[in-house]
Amino acid sequence: MTDLLYSKLAGVGHLFYKFYFPHEKIAFIIDGYLKKFNCKKIVFFGALIYAAKILQSRGYEITFVDYTKEMVDEAKKVLQNTKFVVSDMRTLELEEKQDAIVLMGRILTYMYTDEDVLKAFSAFKNNLKDSGIIVVDNYEISKIDKGGYFNGIIEVKDKNLTIRRISKISRQKNQPAVYKWDCIYEKAAKGEKEIFEDKNHILRAFSKDEMEELVKKSKLKFIGNFPNFEERSFITVAQK
Ligand SMILES: C[S@@+](CC[C@H](N)C(=O)[O-])C[C@H]1O[C@@H](n2cnc3c(N)ncnc32)[C@H](O)[C@@H]1O
Repeated sequence: MTDLLYSKLAGVGHLFYKFYFPHEKIAFIIDGYLKKFNCKKIVFFGALIYAAKILQSRGYEITFVDYTKEMVDEAKKVLQNTKFVVSDMRTLELEEKQDAIVLMGRILTYMYTDEDVLKAFSAFKNNLKDSGIIVVDNYEISKIDKGGYFNGIIEVKDKNLTIRRISKISRQKNQPAVYKWDCIYEKAAKGEKEIFEDKNHILRAFSKDEMEELVKKSKLKFIGNFPNFEERSFITVAQK
């Protein structure tokens, strides 16, 4: 597949996430649910590759999945002893059943209709062992656009690299709650500057009640909605 949302942004996106996100804290939160439900074999979706690495160092057997080959290639540079799969979440079909499916990094934000969410949940169910769990985080309606993450300038850097992300978010629709986000990454490394444009990026936010209802419709067992590592999003846990 080419030209998916993150095909051209995987490199700069995952570097931005590398410096920006509190991976230890995120891995700690995920680890809590995995331990509680005795999970060992897990599917890890998306761009928080360094959180996956921490979980791997704690003994979890990881299958890393993204629908862009580019993000999977970035993960291959960081994760060892890992299975890598390029797949859309709605059509996930793995050879072995898993103990948990982890979607942290607000990836369900790209399921713009309830039908899409239910397709994804149905695929997750088919790839889980009995009593397996899903751990999914989501932006929350009317909190997604607060603070500076999708509005304004964020700069991350180390001694070799600076990334400035300049962005603006606006609400497009109420039901489902869909937001348009325009963003530019300016990357400066070794005296060279590169610009990556990410315009008309559509994000969906959910309410906690909406997630509970969608989980119940999917016939997964709703375990609960819980706090995330930051205020604008929440975690939902459900069980097969
Ligand atoms: C990079 S995260 C970004 C989330 C959000 N924009 C943010 O800044 O918090 C999104 C990841 O989800 C992946 N992704 C998006 N839609 C997907 C789908 N339908 N199936 C699997 N992976 C998907 C993208 O390729 C990307 O790696």
